Amino acid sequence: MPAAAPKLDNVVFEDQQPDHSESRAELLAGLQLPQKKINPKYFYDARGSELFEQITELREYYPTRTEIGILKRHANDIARHCDRDCVLIEPGSGSSEKVRLLLDAIRPAAYVPVDISADFLQESALKLGREFPWLRVHAICADFADQWQARTDLPEGRRVVFYPGSTIGNMEPPEATAFLSGLREWIGSDGGVLVGVDLHKSEKILNAAYNDAQGVTAEFNLNILNSVNRLADADFRHRNFSHRAFYNRDLKRIEMHLVSKESQTVRVNGSSIRFDKGETLHTENSYKYSLQDFTDLSQAAGFTLQKSWLDEKNLFSVHYLSAA
Ligand code: SAH
Ligand code: AVI
Repeated sequence: MPAAAPKLDNVVFEDQQPDHSESRAELLAGLQLPQKKINPKYFYDARGSELFEQITELREYYPTRTEIGILKRHANDIARHCDRDCVLIEPGSGSSEKVRLLLDAIRPAAYVPVDISADFLQESALKLGREFPWLRVHAICADFADQWQARTDLPEGRRVVFYPGSTIGNMEPPEATAFLSGLREWIGSDGGVLVGVDLHKSEKILNAAYNDAQGVTAEFNLNILNSVNRLADADFRHRNFSHRAFYNRDLKRIEMHLVSKESQTVRVNGSSIRFDKGETLHTENSYKYSLQDFTDLSQAAGFTLQKSWLDEKNLFSVHYLSAA
């Protein structure tokens, strides 16, 4: 639960966190698959959110600074697509750093950050509300893949979804298509989506971005075990696992895994989960797209790609999709 209720007139906080029994069942089911896996949303407890912020500052992790460069450079052009007085929704808003670059240009009627990381969301929403006293901030702690809904009325304006960071890349492509289709229904026929998508590039750059020299990504990866221990009454030990991340050329994605250093048995919600030495627990995919692949995906979801903005080295892309 968030530590304290928000104390700003322009900031509302709604807690719609998934309950523990659902999380426990999901975690256990993933750990019982032949290829054990955990949904990457479980990275983001308070520590995980902090570690992700540290990742965004790493020399090797190009996506954040590159996307920020694109947003800064094209803020006015982007704003022209979004409309003044729109309701701007950000699924997986994290620190809400990037939206700051657009707020003065767009001047939305409300900003709706939606994130699973309750305390971090609440702190970020308050900070934003203090910095932008004219902005109505309606923060919702929820799993963005669920059917969340604001419990108090949002303003009437056109709905625009801001989905930066290539968080869409953490979904399998069919899941990303279904997610975009769901957004399309939610925003209506006059709505839009501004989405950040990471692009294909040399494997050297990709592998380095997920294997930083300081080991922050390794710590982020291992930290997921804390969430499992807490939410599913498990007894994973960090020291028994190591970080592995690599680019899978065939599937066009970075895969992150935790490798069992020895054969071991872990207790999870009363069940025994056995790991062989060298067996992996798959924690995340991060898909990389070509412009064509992403155009096709957005079309399959019922959107028309109106405009794309790229950095000079074609590392990252931001797209405006209209629900045509
Ligand atoms: N949009 C920010 C943060 C991206 S990091 C940026 O571009 O910098 C991904 C964010 O999504 C994290 O804050 C994490 O807590 C959140 N997140 C991941 N999976 C989620 C889910 N299923 N539901 C809600 N939030 C989620
Ligand atoms: C949030 N998401 C887009 C990040 C990514 O690059 O896939 C999460 C991350 N995982 C390892 N480093 C960063």
